[in-house]
Amino acid sequence: MSFVSIRNGQRRDEVGVRSRDGITPAAEGLICMTGVGKRFSTAGQVHEAVRDVDLEVAPGEFVSLLGPSGCGKSTLLNIAAGYEEPTSGTVTVRGKSIRGPGTDRVMVFQEFALFPWRTVRANVEFGLEMVGMPKAQRQETAGRYLEMVGLTASERKYPIELSGGMKQRTAIARALAIEPEILLLDEPFGALDAQTRDLLQEELLRIWMATQKTIMFVTHSIEESIYLSDRIVVMTAGPGGHIKKIIDLSQWERPRDRSSPEFSGLSKDIRDLLRPELEHVVEEERES
Ligand SMILES: Nc1ncnc2c1ncn2[C@@H]1O[C@H](COP(=O)(O)OP(=O)(O)OP(=O)(O)O)[C@@H](O)[C@H]1O
Ligand SMILES: [Mg+2]
Repeated sequence: MSFVSIRNGQRRDEVGVRSRDGITPAAEGLICMTGVGKRFSTAGQVHEAVRDVDLEVAPGEFVSLLGPSGCGKSTLLNIAAGYEEPTSGTVTVRGKSIRGPGTDRVMVFQEFALFPWRTVRANVEFGLEMVGMPKAQRQETAGRYLEMVGLTASERKYPIELSGGMKQRTAIARALAIEPEILLLDEPFGALDAQTRDLLQEELLRIWMATQKTIMFVTHSIEESIYLSDRIVVMTAGPGGHIKKIIDLSQWERPRDRSSPEFSGLSKDIRDLLRPELEHVVEEERES
């Protein structure tokens, strides 16, 4: 079965977005990164985090960034979020240069980042308070997203009373409540046990299908990226991480069967693709 096309670059006319009933060509990249590089200067030393990244993410697309530790995945997400500025290249959202964070883009971090003194509901309402939404509308909006992530019954609990999965659901509901066009998820399920992780992947897929969000998703997990993505961006090891391959899965029906031969075959292919990059990281660590 040849549902996968692994390719080196990405031609504009190849950018596809999976509509809920088929594949439609993307009119425009929603997020466009062109020649993006980022160098950090600390204590007189310059460290190149990412180099020459060209990536277009189409509206409604689910794109994963996959690669070894330190290859610059979070850096790229931070640039898309507007928390970091690239040192070279350009990044636009809907054709406009990014000038800092905006309510059209929301980031969800691995470490949940919930406010411990606020209940689940109050955490979800937080961003809505910040934008000055009136109370009644805030309550209605938060209620809708709490229901979407299955937390209505736990809305009065405090973060300390929640399991890891529930914390992450709260963080996702909080991000969704702001109703951003773009969700930037940095290893959101990294700290969860395998079963909870599978479950939350299924939920995220359902929410993505229902809300038509555009998602950039950072992960270390090959399986997670295959289960979720329209495209997987495989990166080379840092310093100067860049795109090694883009794997297009947009034609592959969802939900995907994790136990199918196609799934395992692709996992192996990506594992082989990443092996030299991981070896590179181990060598660098040995030398430093
Ligand atoms: N603020 C910073 N100052 C200096 N160096 C930084 C900064 N942020 C990131 N780096 C460096 O840039 C490189 C890329 O970091 P980044 O966090 O983007 O990697 P990553 O792919 O997300 O790694 P991981 O999978 O471990 O989260 C790393 O070498 C890191 O040490
Ligand atoms: Mg990271």
